[in-house]
Amino acid sequence: MLEVHGLTAGYGGNPVLEDVRIEIGRGKLVGLLGANNAGKSTFINCLSGVVPASSGRILFEGEDITRLSPKSRVERGIIQVPEGRLVFPDMSVRENLLLGGVNATARPRRAERIDYVLDLLPRLKERIGQAAGTLSGGEQQMLAIGRGLVAEPRLLMLDEPSLGLAPRFVQYVFEIIDKLHADGLTVLLVEQNLNLTLRHSDYCYVLERGRVVVEGVSAHVKDDPRTKSAYLGL
Ligand SMILES: Nc1ncnc2c1ncn2[C@@H]1O[C@H](COP(=O)(O)OP(=O)(O)OP(=O)(O)O)[C@@H](O)[C@H]1O
Ligand SMILES: [Mg+2]
Repeated sequence: MLEVHGLTAGYGGNPVLEDVRIEIGRGKLVGLLGANNAGKSTFINCLSGVVPASSGRILFEGEDITRLSPKSRVERGIIQVPEGRLVFPDMSVRENLLLGGVNATARPRRAERIDYVLDLLPRLKERIGQAAGTLSGGEQQMLAIGRGLVAEPRLLMLDEPSLGLAPRFVQYVFEIIDKLHADGLTVLLVEQNLNLTLRHSDYCYVLERGRVVVEGVSAHVKDDPRTKSAYLGL
């Protein structure tokens, strides 16, 4: 579904990603692991078009999207759930969900999508009128995922959804991701949580200082000594 070839990107002439090659098959749950500053969010931002690629190519369902606007990518179903949730704090849960579906593709089915999200994440239903900024961190993560789902993703990109959550909520987030995967959604999961991500994903890439240093079926990545060294900087 997604092919990234030789992707290089950075900020103000400083490269962050160098020659990154990643593939995601339809219906797969693919993990992208890496320590702080590895370039994980930069990678997701390149896929969503917020950070431009300085070289390389991004193909989505056979189409070269490297130069497409973020809006066109959202309309093709490339949906990002950003690091740190970024819900709109003064708007209600319902308004945040509605905003997930403003793109031209999702808008006609927005009401049904919200019903689907509220069934999947019943906690949001209980808090539908509450200002998003008054939700707990875990509930805000649910809302950020829900908002992404209302956008009708074909590829859902989650940027560190377990960051800063209590263990119980981390478990819940991974259960939701498993459910989406089982329903056939294609997911790119960016995480620092090595063990949980390896356990839940089909295939994993490990990024170290902007380069892929390990890739493979998740069970194998776990046993590769380079995986640990990428984290510990050894
Ligand atoms: N908007 C920006 N302007 C300048 N430099 C940036 C910008 N965003 C990220 N960087 C730099 O790019 C590098 C990689 O950052 P990035 O956020 O992609 O890493 P990450 O793997 O997502 O880290 P974390 O796990 O902490 O979220 C860092 O050195 C960071 O300072
Ligand atoms: Mg990040």
